[in-house]
Amino acid sequence: MVPSVEKLLVVGAGQMGNGIAQVAAAAGLQVVLNDVNAEFAERGLANIQKNLARSVEKGKLSTEDMNAVLSRIRLSTSLQDGADCDMAVEAATENMEIKTNIFRQLDDLLPERAILATNTSSLPITEIAAVTKRPEQVIGMHFMNPVPVMKLVEVIRGLATSDEVYETVRALAERMGKTAVEVNDFPGFVSNRILLPMINEAIYCVYEGVATPEAIDEVMKLGMNHPMGPLTLADFIGLDTCLAIMEVLYEGFRDSKYRPCPLLRKYVKAGWLGRKTGRGFYVYS
Ligand SMILES: NC(=O)c1ccc[n+]([C@@H]2O[C@H](COP(=O)([O-])OP(=O)(O)OC[C@H]3O[C@@H](n4cnc5c(N)ncnc54)[C@H](O)[C@@H]3O)[C@@H](O)[C@H]2O)c1
Repeated sequence: MVPSVEKLLVVGAGQMGNGIAQVAAAAGLQVVLNDVNAEFAERGLANIQKNLARSVEKGKLSTEDMNAVLSRIRLSTSLQDGADCDMAVEAATENMEIKTNIFRQLDDLLPERAILATNTSSLPITEIAAVTKRPEQVIGMHFMNPVPVMKLVEVIRGLATSDEVYETVRALAERMGKTAVEVNDFPGFVSNRILLPMINEAIYCVYEGVATPEAIDEVMKLGMNHPMGPLTLADFIGLDTCLAIMEVLYEGFRDSKYRPCPLLRKYVKAGWLGRKTGRGFYVYS
């Protein structure tokens, strides 16, 4: 029997964390939504409220069900609030030091049986697991953005991840209405090893003056049947996250084909991070 997860700690209430909290609460789990910053935690909850209210307007959800989902989410600014959780999903900033610090604390605070998952886009699961005393219970649970809409969860097994933990996480993904795909621990896994070099190449096209962002996106939408152009998608993912993933690929494979485009670095340094800051390859009001 695969143990069931009923209480979930979500660490990081940004665009991914609040989406994960929403789908988990909608699946009936009790959720603690944690962020270092109370304002960000509240912003995360406001986003969930907005999403659910939209579903009510569209007649896809009753007001009663919306209130039930919201009642299952508790905001937190201390990881201690997750001390009785069966599992944690970490969705904090894509940075190894931040993540390993969080995992050390989770390992100390959560019950021995608890599973510790990370929503990292590219960082090595095995390395994150190694800072804990329970590497067999550490796993990658990589949701796609926007979480309530996208069906895929890439489940990444670290070197030590046990079969039982993998099965529990797969079952949880299904309970959240997602399809789990099993992947091994290599830089960028499958999704971002393929997606990000394409986005980076689109950025090189802007950098070298091959075409405007609008033209590049139009080529990929109309010519390749992509629902969204690569630069619109980069803005949506967050340019800081895109750069962090390219750095992981570049360092992980030591192959120059993964070098991040200088224009991507420049935008990140300028604070043009895409949608979340109002400006990236496009300007958002
Ligand atoms: N953006 C995407 O499309 C996408 C898709 C899949 C996975 N991811 C991954 O999900 C993770 C989060 O990405 P995001 O896009 O939600 O970023 P984001 O910038 O929107 O949110 C990150 C949040 O983490 C919080 N945070 C930072 N340090 C923390 C700590 N020590 N404890 C608690 N909270 C902390 C920040 O305050 C912020 O609210 C990253 O690992 C990213 O690679 C992102």
